[in-house]
Amino acid sequence: MRDAAPTTIYLKDYTPFGFDVEKVELTFDLHPTKTRVKSRISFVPKPGAPSDMFLDGENLTLVSASIDGTPVHPEVSAEGLTCPVPDAPFLWEAEVEIDPENNTALEGLYMSNGMYCTQCEAQGFRKITYYPDRPDVMSVFNVEINGPHPVLLSNGNVISTSQGHAAWHDPWPKPAYLFALVAGDLVAHSDSFVTASGRNVDLNLYVRPGDEGKCAFGMRALKASMTWDEEVYGREYDLDLFNIVAVDDFNMGAMENKGLNVFNSSAVLASPETSTDENFLRIEAIIAHEYFHNWTGNRITCRDWFQLCLKEGLTVYRDSQFTSDMRSAPVKRITDVIDLRARQFPEDQGPLAHPVRPESFQEINNFYTATVYEKGAEVIGMLRCLVGAEAYGKALDLYFERHDGQACTIEDWLKVFEDTTGRDLGQFKRWYSQAGTPRLTVKDAWYNGTYILSFTQNLPASETTPDPQPQVIPIVTGLLRPSGEEVVPSQVLEMTQATQSFTFEGLKERPVPSVLRGFSTPVVLESELAAEHTAFLLAHDTDPFNRWEAGRSLARASLLKMITDDAAPDPAYLDGIHAVVGDATLDPAYRALMLNLPGQSDLVKSLCDMGETPDPQAIWDACRAMSHAQAERLQDMLPALFDAHQVTEPYEPNADQSGRRSLANAALRLVSLIDGPDRARAQFTSADNMTQQLSALGVLLRINEGADELEAFEQQWKHDRLVMDKWFGMQVIHADPNETAATAARLTEHPDFNWKNPNRFRAVMGSLAAHHAGFHFADGQSYGLLADWLIRLDPVNPQTTARMCSALQTWRRYDDARQQKIAAALDRILATPDLSRDTTEMLTRIRG
Ligand code: ARG
Ligand code: ZN
Repeated sequence: MRDAAPTTIYLKDYTPFGFDVEKVELTFDLHPTKTRVKSRISFVPKPGAPSDMFLDGENLTLVSASIDGTPVHPEVSAEGLTCPVPDAPFLWEAEVEIDPENNTALEGLYMSNGMYCTQCEAQGFRKITYYPDRPDVMSVFNVEINGPHPVLLSNGNVISTSQGHAAWHDPWPKPAYLFALVAGDLVAHSDSFVTASGRNVDLNLYVRPGDEGKCAFGMRALKASMTWDEEVYGREYDLDLFNIVAVDDFNMGAMENKGLNVFNSSAVLASPETSTDENFLRIEAIIAHEYFHNWTGNRITCRDWFQLCLKEGLTVYRDSQFTSDMRSAPVKRITDVIDLRARQFPEDQGPLAHPVRPESFQEINNFYTATVYEKGAEVIGMLRCLVGAEAYGKALDLYFERHDGQACTIEDWLKVFEDTTGRDLGQFKRWYSQAGTPRLTVKDAWYNGTYILSFTQNLPASETTPDPQPQVIPIVTGLLRPSGEEVVPSQVLEMTQATQSFTFEGLKERPVPSVLRGFSTPVVLESELAAEHTAFLLAHDTDPFNRWEAGRSLARASLLKMITDDAAPDPAYLDGIHAVVGDATLDPAYRALMLNLPGQSDLVKSLCDMGETPDPQAIWDACRAMSHAQAERLQDMLPALFDAHQVTEPYEPNADQSGRRSLANAALRLVSLIDGPDRARAQFTSADNMTQQLSALGVLLRINEGADELEAFEQQWKHDRLVMDKWFGMQVIHADPNETAATAARLTEHPDFNWKNPNRFRAVMGSLAAHHAGFHFADGQSYGLLADWLIRLDPVNPQTTARMCSALQTWRRYDDARQQKIAAALDRILATPDLSRDTTEMLTRIRG
């Protein structure tokens, strides 16, 4: 329940806990509504420790407490308890009762389909027992579980198991947020791994009976991750056992609990029949991410939650390196940048903007953001770009050596780079402390054989960054001859001033610059270079990212003219992509990405920057028209592209096959705009895998032809929750803008709309928010529908509700009529009695 005035926590107020925790012993007597948790905790006061100890605790019923065997009666509040303690080491014992079955917030110990599981990050452990629930308190845990379940799991190694009982010991000191417990009627898919130094590790993927057939890929991804971390970072696994559990009700993707990762079933279960290529790719990345946390997160953890990017930015960076190595590096980079622009840029350029390392929060769960994760990873990529791969490797070795077993800060992280390279990273640190997306303007000049590139950086002021200072911007740049060959290969231009020029001597002719290769810095690039360079780069750039980016710039420019001036699609753009998509020497996945259009909310931002009022319907219409123009321009090759990229071998979710499928399906999407539904219908009927089936369905829905297939799909898959999430989502995603809200509303009446399941809720409401023109349709129905459901979900699951609020973060970009409707929706939610702290904080920031 919300207190009258929510408290704000500040980084500058950090103080260490007054006591060390030497050892923790927990005993769980499981019961759906009356679970008993006994704790025995050995505390050691530090010099100057207070005489009263505070322990966090929420939604707990205290049964008894004692210190060194003598009963005590602490003062209990809604946030925890306070108790006078001795000034010498003492044993704290307590027993509490908790109610997992009615824990719908899915934080702490809760139940999902009859199984018990936990989610403790960031502050869920305090819903399990009284404890100093903060990441800088690390201890060794022993856990005993009593319950009538065949599988009883916790962190670390098994000490003993018997019918109804299990004992676990985790030898690695850890913060409470990495604690986990799972109990249920589960089956294991098992394998093993031998580490580089010869340790045998048992691997298990635990799932509900019936899901055994969806485990093989996740296990393969786990073993690949273990090998990669040994080879690339020299990091070995450190226990004899590694368990993963799949859970249907989960707020996030997955969680890196020590030795017992818990996954949203959508982030681990996969089979060719039920999962798309994209699902496989995402699962591989999340398994890697959670596994990599064992070193970057668990062995070295965060001092406090302000340092969240220390583990998340680094681990996202590591998992993106892994995916690049396993698959195609350019394709991975392009899709990461698409995602960054779609999710992180709006956050960084709106009312929710915050630095990669925030300095205050009310509810930490609201800071598991694209800025902390994805921009946090970009910052690490920039650092590596600046110091070079070799120095990066040395710095990381020092990081692991110096900080193993510690709870660290961003200062510790930067220091290992300073110590290994001798660089001063004081200015670089602004990437961690300043919010917002810098704008980088570039222009060039040429005289007497000297070529000059001049850049200006400008970070818009924001609430958290009122007085922005220049940042260090690594601009990877290459120069091309007018004939297309590279004359100056990629180099890093290190920009540190607000305005700065870089000079190139000894060139025989004026070059064409290719700047910001690989998107070496997360900025908005504003080019004052000759407009015809863009088409040239689309045809010739030797950097695959910038070649793709050139296509994207042309598409954006053309769409903006179509929207504002009713212009026709730009023939130079269409000719350019015709050449690239038709180039059989290029990776099919890359060619498919060339056909992608800029996001519609991206275009909204561009229009606002131009001083125009965006009209979502006009943007939608322009994108439709552009797709038709692509289809017409590529008409000569589409059927052949479709045929030539059919995969005839047995399905494998690898880069090669999925690349071919993505190009064939992009061709199918376009050709169907001209030729109608026959090919897609045939593919839907004959598909033996979900990638083919779902893309055919999407194509049909897009041309308003898929009604029968939708019905058939439901009949075929109604027993499979994860596939049915797709069925719910597809209908909303592919609805016409004027029917999107009604479609979503109708789906909420479906008997299988289990709105308390986060995946199902997001399948409908997340898709509604993702459908730009539908969500912002002029009648405002979507805003009202989303508000209704957020109000309903908030008391049940504040975390998922608060996350979904970000759908409204860009509201100031729209016209007055829409702003009024959105403001009314925001105010209506904010006026709800007892609104959670999570949702209140999000909406207050958004409302401004
Ligand atoms: N640490 C987890 C991961 O990145 C995510 C946990 C999110 N928890 C939360 N309360 N938001 O893999
Ligand atoms: Zn993570």
